[in-house]
Amino acid sequence: MSIRIKLLLSFTGMLVISLLVFVFTACLFTIATTGDIHGVRDFYKVHYQINPLTEQEESIFLELKYLAKNEPDELQDKELLTEYDFKLRTVRAGLYVRRENDQVFESNTMNQPELEANLPPYDLNNNQIRNTLNIGERFYAYAKYDFRYTDGARGSVYVIRERSPFGEVTRRLLPVLVLSLVGIAIVGNVLLYRWITRSVVKPLNTLRNSAEHIKEGNLQFSLDLHSRDEIGQLNEAFEDMRKRLYESIQLRLRDEENRKELISNISHDLRTPITNIKGYIEGIRDGVADTPEKMNKYVNIIYTKTMDLDKLVDELFLYSKLDLKQVPFLFEHVDIIDFINDCIDEQRYVLEEKGIRLEWEARTGQSVQVVADLEKLKRVLLNIIGNAQNFMDKQHKIIHVSAVLSPEWVTVEIRDNGMGIDPEAIPNIFERFYRAEASRNSTMGGSGLGLAIASQIIEGHGGQIWAESELGVGTSLYFTLKRATRKEAR
Ligand SMILES: Nc1ncnc2c1ncn2[C@@H]1O[C@H](COP(=O)(O)OP(=O)(O)O)[C@@H](O)[C@H]1O
Ligand SMILES: [Mg+2]
Repeated sequence: MSIRIKLLLSFTGMLVISLLVFVFTACLFTIATTGDIHGVRDFYKVHYQINPLTEQEESIFLELKYLAKNEPDELQDKELLTEYDFKLRTVRAGLYVRRENDQVFESNTMNQPELEANLPPYDLNNNQIRNTLNIGERFYAYAKYDFRYTDGARGSVYVIRERSPFGEVTRRLLPVLVLSLVGIAIVGNVLLYRWITRSVVKPLNTLRNSAEHIKEGNLQFSLDLHSRDEIGQLNEAFEDMRKRLYESIQLRLRDEENRKELISNISHDLRTPITNIKGYIEGIRDGVADTPEKMNKYVNIIYTKTMDLDKLVDELFLYSKLDLKQVPFLFEHVDIIDFINDCIDEQRYVLEEKGIRLEWEARTGQSVQVVADLEKLKRVLLNIIGNAQNFMDKQHKIIHVSAVLSPEWVTVEIRDNGMGIDPEAIPNIFERFYRAEASRNSTMGGSGLGLAIASQIIEGHGGQIWAESELGVGTSLYFTLKRATRKEAR
């Protein structure tokens, strides 16, 4: 069953129940006011015409009627009439007696000067004993009996009771009132039903349509989030889900793209040395290397190329393992200053051979403890120093290493006065296989994995790595490591 139908049923149910309750209450109310179960039944009949008087009034009236039939002259006896009137007055009714056109007795409680003029004419057959009459705004119910006095004169006896005119009006208006109440209830229900369907069913339908969209793989839409109710929250959650799904799909597509690019890069980088090696080996096979010098040269080239290949595969392997977080870090407490000292000493001789001056300045002047994997950290340092010497284009070649301390961190800077990096290229140099345009076509660069590996390693240490450079002036590479607290250091 759809929500729409359920709502319709529940609204109709409510309507029926409220109408029943209304009718029941009305019945109870009538019983309570008239004190008579028949009152309910008579509600729509002109109750007062049939039964204008209460039981007590009625019994007094019957006595008077009896008197009028049997001893009509008694109804001229003022004393007797006053007595009856007194009885009637205790039940808030009044007595009126007339003889021909004269008034014999009128209750002084009546207070209605026009009563006489408004009474019905004589009807000795007494066809209608009980009736109502209006005088101006006032409304009366009465029972009367017409008779003849013994001398033949016509007479009437009335027991009259004033009724609330509102009662009459209400009684007349009641059907209209009930109908309009029912109408209001129905219209209200219809409006409420429309309101609920609009605020519940419609958004649900939108949600369902969105789900259909998603099922078909279309995630590039957005839901209107108007309402703040539960449906609104549901829509919000759904919209959130759509965004995340969209993001994750985008991410997957990007990863896929990356993977393709990686494979194409790897195959390209592997192919170049292999083609070279193949070429030289073919040269040897075809007898191009016909002298021992040539042969020696060919073999040397093949050897160098094979070494390059070996290095490339090694770097690739390391990079992919770092990327997959499969390389364990062997952390230990070390003095980073001591460590840099050792590395510099190791490199100084090789670099000086190439005419590069290696300066090392530890501005700290103290030992600085860090938690690090020394072998990997050395790789970082050598990669950076390697770049500095590879991309060197000056006469006076200088590589300057320094370390600066902050309370929590130690920052190592490796500055060179080489060719520098194009500012636009700087954000990319830590990406795998990335080589700035200047080095791409030259023999200077390597695989483009050096800084990617360095970045992975520093991140593995919880540090940061970045570069600052000025084209033609030089480059600074920085990395930070967290200092170990004394307790950790021990
Ligand atoms: N010290 C430097 N001076 C100039 N360019 C540099 C320097 N270090 C890195 N680069 C640029 O960053 C690129 C990426 O470096 P790297 O990842 O080590 O790859 P590779 O050295 O194999 O080319 C280099 O190709 C080069 O263009
Ligand atoms: Mg490099």
